Amino acid sequence: MPQRQIVRLGHPSLRVPAQPLAPAQIESAEIQALIDDMIEAMRQARGVGLAAPQVGEEVQLFVSDPLGGADPAAVRVVINPMLTPLSGELVYDWEGCLSIPGLRGLVPRHPAVRVQGLDRAGRPVDAVVEGFEARIVQHEHDHLNGVVFLDRMRDLRSLAFYEEWQRYMRSEDEPADEPTIG
Ligand code: NI
Repeated sequence: MPQRQIVRLGHPSLRVPAQPLAPAQIESAEIQALIDDMIEAMRQARGVGLAAPQVGEEVQLFVSDPLGGADPAAVRVVINPMLTPLSGELVYDWEGCLSIPGLRGLVPRHPAVRVQGLDRAGRPVDAVVEGFEARIVQHEHDHLNGVVFLDRMRDLRSLAFYEEWQRYMRSEDEPADEPTIG
């Protein structure tokens, strides 16, 4: 099976709203293969999330894997997602994007969100996610609305190339080879 190519900023799929999937479409071989391909592409790119528009498919579907492949049970597939921010002040942290390779920037996100939608079997998803996973889910959900992390930055002065970020901006508690959000 050919590897799905992750598209980069400038590809039109990254800037249009994705279409919802009808429940009957979810079990189709085409969508099931798309999900498998997205998980594979996310792994290969060392990402912790990926949204369908990032492989050129304008449908409301994302995958997330906050543990970066360490536990297959941690992989989440969400179709037609709806996010509800829970509470708390916005938290700033570094993000990158597999469709904007090489850059990092500080992005404010809600510390916890409720995620509702459907899983790959068409069953309801209703989960509360926090911290890093909440950040991933908000980043991927944005991709389904044609929004990228650069649009969410409040101050573009924190934008940095990865090598310079590692050298000058990374705090000591952040791993040197931090995965890219997705
Ligand atoms: Ni991204």
